[in-house]
Parts: sequence; structure tokens; C-alpha cells
Amino acid sequence: TATLGVAAAIAYLFGSIPFGLLLSRAAGVGDIRKIGSGNIGATNVLRTGRKGLAAATLLLDALKGAAAVLAARVICGGEDIDTGMAVAAIAVVIGHCFPIWLGFRGGKGVATGLGVIWALCWPAGALCCLVWLLVARLSRISSAGALAAFCFAPVFVTLLTHRPFATPVPIATTLLTLLILVRHQGNIARLISGQESHIQLTDSKKN
Ligand code: G3P
Repeated sequence: TATLGVAAAIAYLFGSIPFGLLLSRAAGVGDIRKIGSGNIGATNVLRTGRKGLAAATLLLDALKGAAAVLAARVICGGEDIDTGMAVAAIAVVIGHCFPIWLGFRGGKGVATGLGVIWALCWPAGALCCLVWLLVARLSRISSAGALAAFCFAPVFVTLLTHRPFATPVPIATTLLTLLILVRHQGNIARLISGQESHIQLTDSKKN
């Protein structure tokens, strides 16, 4: 229906705002796509040694994810609410991963996806963040934390929303996980070969 289309378009546009790129540029760090992994997300912004900037990227990318789902709730209302949230959940992460403004070359969807999960079901969002932080802290590898968190996301969302698996919200969460896995192909290959980069929080100059 028309409202679903509107919710999807708004979500895509929210998602396509490349906060990592905009904040890095504004802070005089330069083009984040030419630094580290070349990714526009918070992990790569952290590689510049600017922790505040990385935290702001994480927060804003997550907020746009949550905002898209919440906007869909308002736009779709009534009985279409689950379908609306599901469509927005996918569209906002697609917007982040494939933004029209950057020739469709965007990020990997972790922060935005976490924001989406918070808005779909906050206890599931909290648990995903917990898994993410725990695994990232123990392994000191950001992508490992993200991959672990999103593997659990469909389980957490399905159980904690008390919805059957074959309904819009759990299906959207599963598609989100698949999209994030696909966007992390390079990271997964480096994890397997033991070459994925470690998070360096103490002395940014050494890494
Ligand atoms: O999952 C975190 C992911 O975004 C890793 O980013 O820059 O290490 O590829 P990066």
C-alpha cells in the first residue's frame, strides 16, 4: 500500500545519511573512505584515533535506524504496523549500505541495524548490544562482536516479541542479519585467516 511505500522511502533516506563521512569531514579528518578499512562506520572512524567522533558516528547511525522504524509505526499505524516496521527496518539498513549519494557504496549496517533492533524490541536490542560489547571486548575485534550479535538477533527478536517466526518482524530481522553477513564477507575472510584488525583504544598512533 501507499503508506508502506512512504515508510520505506523515508527509511531509505534516513539510512543513506553517511554520518561517519560527514562527521569526519567536518572534524577535518578527511575522507574516511581513504582511511583504514575504507568503511564509513564507527569502527573505521575509531581508527583515526578520534574516540568522540567514533562514538558520535555510532550513536547517530543507530539513531537513524531507530528513527526509521519509529517513523514507520506512526505512518503505518493500525493493522499494518508490523509490516511497516519490518519494511522500514530493511529499507534503512539498505540506505546505509547502499546510499544513493555515495554511488551506492556505503557501510556495513551494524550501528544502524542495532538501532533498528532497539526500536523493534528494546530488550532484544539491549541483549544484542551486550553480545556485541562482550565479544568485541574479549576478542578486541569489532566485526567479531557485530557478527555474533546479529547471529543472535533473529532469535532474541522472535522470542522477546512473542511472535511466530514466519511473521514480518522476525523475518525482517533475519533478512537484516543476512544483509550484514553479506556486507562482512571481507571481515569474515580476515577473521578466518587471523588477519582481522584489532581495536586499539589506548594509543591510536601505534595502530
Ligand atoms: O562490524 C564492524 C564492522 O563495521 C567492521 O568495520 O572498518 O573493521 O571493516 P571495519
